[in-house]
Amino acid sequence: MIGMFERLARPLFHALDPEDAHGLTIRLLKFAPLLRAPADDRRLAVRAFGLNFPNPVGMAAGFDKNAEVPDALLRLGFGFVEVGTVTPLPQRGNTRPRVFRLDADAGVINRLGFNSQGADAVLARLAARANAGGIVGINVGANRDAPDRVADYVQLIERFASVASYVTVNVSSPNTPGLRNLQQAAVLDDLLARVIDARERVAQSAGPTPVLLKIAPDLSLADLDDVVGIARSRRVDGLIVSNTTLARPASLQEVSVAKEAGGLSGRPLFPLATRMLAETYVRVESVFPLIGAGGIDSGSAALAKFRAGASLIQLYSALVFRGLGLIEEIKAALIAGLEHDRLESLDDLVGVDAAAVTAEPWPG
Ligand SMILES: Cc1cc2nc3c(=O)[nH]c(=O)nc-3n(C[C@H](O)[C@H](O)[C@H](O)COP(=O)(O)O)c2cc1C
Repeated sequence: MIGMFERLARPLFHALDPEDAHGLTIRLLKFAPLLRAPADDRRLAVRAFGLNFPNPVGMAAGFDKNAEVPDALLRLGFGFVEVGTVTPLPQRGNTRPRVFRLDADAGVINRLGFNSQGADAVLARLAARANAGGIVGINVGANRDAPDRVADYVQLIERFASVASYVTVNVSSPNTPGLRNLQQAAVLDDLLARVIDARERVAQSAGPTPVLLKIAPDLSLADLDDVVGIARSRRVDGLIVSNTTLARPASLQEVSVAKEAGGLSGRPLFPLATRMLAETYVRVESVFPLIGAGGIDSGSAALAKFRAGASLIQLYSALVFRGLGLIEEIKAALIAGLEHDRLESLDDLVGVDAAAVTAEPWPG
């Protein structure tokens, strides 16, 4: 049913501006009756950050920025959904057009700039579904004009801890000027100290809320050393590797669209994001789990993320090109991968190729 609808609708969606197509998709998910995806094979279950994931395939941040459809996404078969980025105050983001499809490359460039309905609206929606079950995390960011950006993160942790399964501190979006400077060692150390402190302050009423950090794929390896060291010493619960890239790989075919400013995602991001995932894995030494994101558009790409060091994965851009059937395709490929290697669980796959990936030539 979902598949048939998609096949009919895809040419129409592709004729639309990407942001209009996205808005239409959210509305459809809100109002169309959806079939529930089949129950997950037990071998897909993952325990991480103290949470039990029915399967490891997550919806990445940015698709449901305002928490309008997390339960529809869970019903479609995602093992978890990350809503946001939410900012404390509503803001419009950059002027349109600000999302571009690179059709020949199966990539996307966006410079949305944290368009958000703001914390009040998103909090109300998450509070209304707080007892619905399912893992719904929230990705938080600072307002563009915030006088004290760290205070924005602290405020959002305090407000969302009781209604979100986990909170992701997003310091890696390229479209808010200066935001990625929060990844610099001294600044990041202060940010994480205050964020973890805020989490502890509200833990008595909100319960133990895992705090994750989402990083850019454009960090140098020296910067990555610092980021991992600080994440470990401040005891974050996990890292998400990665956000979109400012790089434009030489392989891109859509050369004129590639000139648009913004973060690149989708298939062209896969080599860099997977390399950074493996580089992160070898530095983290299994102290906490990693979520792999960036360019997952097939079962084999998903398996490669686990082998490079991911315990869980997230995707977004490939849904534009491959549609929702990709979720079940990936889950089937993960099961087939386990059976092929005669393994009991995905845990046995995590990081098996990390060292080999870090020995390859740097992806260009
Ligand atoms: C249109 C668009 C909007 C996004 N918005 C956010 C966002 O608000 N916060 C965030 O942390 N990541 C955001 N991302 C990044 C994704 O969460 C993900 O990290 C990245 O796209 C790599 O995964 P993919 O190649 O599967 O898309 C966005 C990506 C796209 C394509």
